[in-house]
Amino acid sequence: MTQDEMKKAAGWAALEYVEEGSIVGVGTGSTVNHFIDALGTMSDKIKGAVSSSIASTEKLEQLGIKVFDCNEVASLSVYVDGADEINPAKDMIKGGGAALTREKIVAAIAEKFICIVDGTKAVDVLGQFPLPVEVIPMARSYVARELVRLGGDPVYREGVVTDNGNVILDVHGLAIDSPKQFEDQVNALAGVVTVGLFAHRGADVVITGTPNGAKIEE
Ligand code: 5RP
Repeated sequence: MTQDEMKKAAGWAALEYVEEGSIVGVGTGSTVNHFIDALGTMSDKIKGAVSSSIASTEKLEQLGIKVFDCNEVASLSVYVDGADEINPAKDMIKGGGAALTREKIVAAIAEKFICIVDGTKAVDVLGQFPLPVEVIPMARSYVARELVRLGGDPVYREGVVTDNGNVILDVHGLAIDSPKQFEDQVNALAGVVTVGLFAHRGADVVITGTPNGAKIEE
């Protein structure tokens, strides 16, 4: 089974968490694209979606799913999104697709975070995948110097501008033993919009695509 087939298995399995008549929180990425395809099969049974990126919004709308502004929706029963890494405590690194800030906002209003991944994303210690940090452009060099002081090796993601008009620093060389503490430390730097560590708001359910189908951990 290919990695994409495992992503597809996870994405389609997430459909069982979608309640009829609800507004669904939708993340970003290649695994989520499979979930959006699945959601399209029940587009007439849901009220709509809140999306975490322009790319996901376009795909949802192509399938006839109404996309609500996040400000119009007070709460969501579920938010379905992928991850770049996930540890046994269900803390995640996200933002490989540069959508981390909007992902964190939509996740914050959801009762349940359903994380959909293939088996390659599971790790014991977060940090092998470079940690994305969304930064206000004028703060890029300052934040990079501070990230070096925190033990990382930040690399500017050239040519990428986020949906919010900011830039991304990818921090290499980390082994994050205390994800909540590190999330707080990076978020406290002036000019940081969001760090792609999802520890304070980790996943509630993990659906992993495997060669034998989807494995669900609650
Ligand atoms: C985007 C994300 C994605 O969820 C993450 O990068 C995983 O992507 P994929 O499903 O394509 O492997 O955080 O910002």
